[in-house]
Amino acid sequence: MPDSISPTGTPNPKMTARNVSVYYGDKKAIDNVSIDVDRDNVTAFIGPSGCGKSTFLRTLNRMNDTIPSARVEGDIKLDGEDIYSSAMDVVQLRARVGMVFQKPNPFPKSIYDNVAYGPKIHGLAEGKVELDTIVERSLKRAGLWEEVKDRLTDSGTALSGGQQQRLCIARAIAVDPEVILMDEPCSALDPIATAKIEELIHELRGRYAIVIVTHNMQQAARVSQRTAFFHLGNLVEYGQTTDIFTNPRETRTKDYITGRYG
Ligand SMILES: Nc1ncnc2c1ncn2[C@@H]1O[C@H](COP(=O)(O)OP(=O)(O)OP(=O)(O)O)[C@@H](O)[C@H]1O
Ligand SMILES: [Mg+2]
Repeated sequence: MPDSISPTGTPNPKMTARNVSVYYGDKKAIDNVSIDVDRDNVTAFIGPSGCGKSTFLRTLNRMNDTIPSARVEGDIKLDGEDIYSSAMDVVQLRARVGMVFQKPNPFPKSIYDNVAYGPKIHGLAEGKVELDTIVERSLKRAGLWEEVKDRLTDSGTALSGGQQQRLCIARAIAVDPEVILMDEPCSALDPIATAKIEELIHELRGRYAIVIVTHNMQQAARVSQRTAFFHLGNLVEYGQTTDIFTNPRETRTKDYITGRYG
């Protein structure tokens, strides 16, 4: 990335990554990426398939730890705290930095239990009343409450795809995260369900730092205030979403957003 584009464009970042490289065995999938994740804005990661978006996203809550061949180098901090330090409790970290995946993956449990599970294992509720409150609040924030309030004991897997994705967002919200990572959260959804998720991202902005990976340029332009363009494991360009889409500095960025390659 050219020196003129600072990864530290944000005065008060929620997360900072410096000189991060990721390997799968001998293969380098992410090459020396430095970037700040803004606290109050939505950051979109874009770039052609295989460029390393998911790999880099997973470094932000150590999901790569679950892939035996993966190795992460560099420095990643959450509010100044090194998330790769041996003192970091990874279970705690993944509650603080929640994740929503491409394919909705509710637990084979009731709608209620999907949301209550995290608060229970993290000891966030004193009793049933408090747990009920957390479940209701999380489902409301995820824009799902009205649709499910009368069927909380139904299985989460019985919901529609879009509802399942909002349930997964409610599940992430229930443990009171600081950051939410979303890896192509709408790619399995129809346009109406997609619009609901995008609306939800707008509503959640400011309460949580949000990072979203998307292949949909219109979506990146609609939901994010910052955009990072990845190509072949490199962070090519990072800046205000409006600048990236209207006035990209790099030819590679311009070619990608105008659909020359993908
Ligand atoms: N578990 C893994 N083991 C080995 N290599 C992997 C693994 N996951 C990803 N890779 C490789 O790392 C590179 C980056 O993959 P990644 O999934 O991060 O890309 P991506 O930008 O998210 O792509 P897509 O848009 O298709 O989801 C690719 O070359 C991919 O083959
Ligand atoms: Mg991916």
